[in-house]
Amino acid sequence: MVSIKASVVVLTLLSACLLATNVSAVYHGCCRHYTTNKIPFHKIKGYSVQTVTEMCHINSIIFHTRKGKACMNPAHNWVMDYVNRLRTKAQMVHNKTSQAHG
Ligand SMILES: *[C@@H]1O[C@H](CO)[C@@H](O)[C@H](O)[C@H]1NC(C)=O
Repeated sequence: MVSIKASVVVLTLLSACLLATNVSAVYHGCCRHYTTNKIPFHKIKGYSVQTVTEMCHINSIIFHTRKGKACMNPAHNWVMDYVNRLRTKAQMVHNKTSQAHG
């Protein structure tokens, strides 16, 4: 009886792993694969940077959208172009805000 229960647990764990690999391009605390789809700029709310560590084996730019996070390949020029546009946007907001407050 105990072994049947144990195999059910193992099967459940296995299918959880399979589900996880199906969405492996999606962020799970660490980017393991790159998302290949280009995201429209207006959907991006921000970004973060992942560098190679023991846990995370790839460098990545992570774009944050309302739906979640997407792991991008920093080798793509359009990815860095988006990063620069986000920086310019932040600078613009800073300029406006600091003007408003003198
Ligand atoms: C913000 O202000 C700085 C200094 O005044 C200026 O050089 C820069 O071009 C401005 N940036 C934007 C995005 O407006």
